[in-house]
Amino acid sequence: MQRRFAIIGHRAPSNGKLNLNDLSGACGRLDVLVRAVSSALFLSHGMREDCHITLHLMGGPGPSRRVWFDSRNLKGLHVDERAIAGRISKMLEEPVPAIGQLLEFSSGMWHSGGDISTTFDDWQREGVRMILLDADAPLLSNSSFGEERLGFFLSDDKAFTDNELEVLEMERFSLGSERLQGHSAITIVHHILDQS
Ligand SMILES: C[S@@+](CC[C@H](N)C(=O)[O-])C[C@H]1O[C@@H](n2cnc3c(N)ncnc32)[C@H](O)[C@@H]1O
Repeated sequence: MQRRFAIIGHRAPSNGKLNLNDLSGACGRLDVLVRAVSSALFLSHGMREDCHITLHLMGGPGPSRRVWFDSRNLKGLHVDERAIAGRISKMLEEPVPAIGQLLEFSSGMWHSGGDISTTFDDWQREGVRMILLDADAPLLSNSSFGEERLGFFLSDDKAFTDNELEVLEMERFSLGSERLQGHSAITIVHHILDQS
């Protein structure tokens, strides 16, 4: 079963130079997004077979950027936070591609313009069953799904905005009543779906 994750980085820079020594402060909680990449894609030794994650860098300056990691052909990416952030930092030296233009930056790592609504439209076109992760919704269980492509949306340390929630009109599932960090939420989704 293919799994996808989309996470919104409300203040994460979409352009310019990153300070890799301060991912949390100077880089607008890029640490949250980088940990999400690691939890979504990496196993103890190697990578999941068919899993994607799209980061939404919404903090400017200039147009927002979407960064897509695809485990099926990702090469040379190390699991540590600094290495993943370093790869994003190199990408930010390139201009943001136009919306609808998906450019491969390195094997398995792509970028494009757009925001969460662009990802929503892409996934809808590709027949993905989309789920918003929300602590207040009914509990997620592996019996909720068949053999389909699943796409999960989550936010960074900030709640989804009203505008985002307007775009993300879809079914919602919870992982329990505690508010978790994004990367922990991703790990739990994997754990639940790995039971099927
Ligand atoms: C750190 S939380 C966001 C916290 C933010 N202050 C809020 O109240 O929404 C990051 C994301 O993880 C997901 N999440 C966290 N805890 C969850 C839970 N118990 N069930 C489902 N999703 C959860 C949500 O999608 C959330 O947007």
